Amino acid sequence: MNEKQRLESQQSNAVNPSDKKSAKDYSKYFERVITAPSLKEAKKRGKEEVKYHHDFSIPEKFRGMGEGRKFYIRTYGCQMNEHDTEVMSGIFMALGYEPTDRTEDANVILLNTCAIRENAENKVFGELGHLKALKMEKPDLLLGVCGCMSQEESVVNKILKMYQHVDMIFGTHNIHRLPYILHEAYMSKEMVVEVWSKEGDVIENLPKVRRGNIKAWVNIMYGCDKFCTYCIVPYTRGKERSRRPEEIIQEVRQLAAQGYKEITLLGQNVNAYGKDFEDMKYGLGDLMDELRKIDIPRIRFTTSHPRDFDDHLIEVLAKGGNLMDHIHLPVQSGSTEILKIMARKYTREQYLELVRKIKAAIPDVALTTDIIVGYPNETEEQFEETLSLYREVGFESAYTFIYSPREGTPAAKMEDNVPMEVKKARLQRLNDLVNELSAKALKQYEGQIVEVLVDGESKNNPDVLAGYTTKNKLVNFTGPKSAIGKIVKVKITEAKTWSLNGEMVEELEPAEVK
Ligand code: SAH
Ligand code: SF4
Ligand code: F3S
Repeated sequence: MNEKQRLESQQSNAVNPSDKKSAKDYSKYFERVITAPSLKEAKKRGKEEVKYHHDFSIPEKFRGMGEGRKFYIRTYGCQMNEHDTEVMSGIFMALGYEPTDRTEDANVILLNTCAIRENAENKVFGELGHLKALKMEKPDLLLGVCGCMSQEESVVNKILKMYQHVDMIFGTHNIHRLPYILHEAYMSKEMVVEVWSKEGDVIENLPKVRRGNIKAWVNIMYGCDKFCTYCIVPYTRGKERSRRPEEIIQEVRQLAAQGYKEITLLGQNVNAYGKDFEDMKYGLGDLMDELRKIDIPRIRFTTSHPRDFDDHLIEVLAKGGNLMDHIHLPVQSGSTEILKIMARKYTREQYLELVRKIKAAIPDVALTTDIIVGYPNETEEQFEETLSLYREVGFESAYTFIYSPREGTPAAKMEDNVPMEVKKARLQRLNDLVNELSAKALKQYEGQIVEVLVDGESKNNPDVLAGYTTKNKLVNFTGPKSAIGKIVKVKITEAKTWSLNGEMVEELEPAEVK
């Protein structure tokens, strides 16, 4: 399908004026809408094959578009969004724009948004409110909303009605269309909306401007087919599409040659990597087994889903070397009943069995997790099962959240008898446990020497350097600025709840670098 055909087929997702609800919501604005999102469309999973494109280019007529203009992107949400921002920055630079880190100096401002919880969305609406004054002062400023929120009808609707100073809204599948969308926004007085709900393709040769030259993100797959009942991601990111291994290997090799020290492989559920290949049986374990041979000191991946975590992957991770001894393995709940209604498709026992296998193969592994408390109708006993599982696994840290209903997901329709005060109290109890075990895990490091990849100066004190250990522990330490970007040995002098303090003892020789 070429670009034009695709756009036409995508337009079938556009608001249909004969559909009563949409007509009511959009009638006033309909002419402005090019392609609006549809969660219903986004939910469909077809059998059509993934197509890989290598033909991205900036059309001649757009090349000078950014001359004398500056862009600013604010990123919310996960690493996937961070990386999308790097791609959009690449496109802006290819169009001749310059980056700026001040909204006041920008000619284009993009908010790359996250839809995972209500408070993530509220932050964006708050920011849109603030930016109104700037837009009034500078009418030529282009203001755009992209990322996961733009995939939701209700959000697009709200922006059309209440934030008319927004010039463009485009979706997660439309990033490569940025030059066209900008052009359209400059030409049109109306709000430009281009959100494709379905996407089967992978575009390989998009430009990227990476933030920093020490660590890099590498996408290995896009989308999610798991449809956990609380989660909006399968709707905002589309179906699972894996990049071909040779493309990933080549990208990692290039990053290694450019001197990057660490790469993080990205996907919403990296363990499903390769499941969509029709011509071969090839999974995350196979990919990691090839990547570990590349001369780059550190390789990580995120995020794992316990269900697809297979024995081959464990076997490969156990080989160590540049594969880091830290696994982030979201459990969400310790109660089999809750896991069932979350559609996580594993039980408490199966999760514990997986942990047992991982620890048997990698005895010193650090495990971290994500947990949701206050799922609809979660009982005190079920919550306590989460606490007991947390202790039993001995997680070293966790991201913890109060359940947030997401419109369009099955859980949002469930009745919920758990009052917000109870949810808040549960979160507090869980966080106390998380802090206790984090402090305990860090305490063991006192007096030890660890290897730290130095990111730069510490956020709070430029005289102190900061970096991460192989197990992803933050270390603040004293040492020369020349250590930035290197892997150094640091003696830990003091453990805090969330980080370690230390003193640099020596720089590692390249041959020693792990
Ligand atoms: N793909 C990853 C998670 C992405 S979202 C995975 O499956 O592990 C990151 C975390 O946000 C999830 O692990 C979950 O703990 C949390 N989360 C997702 N939807 C949520 C919701 N509706 N309310 C509260 N937390 C949510
Ligand atoms: Fe959301 Fe579940 Fe997919 Fe993770 S695996 S992105 S929690 S649906
Ligand atoms: Fe948020 Fe989208 Fe990531 S919803 S967590 S930015 S995939």
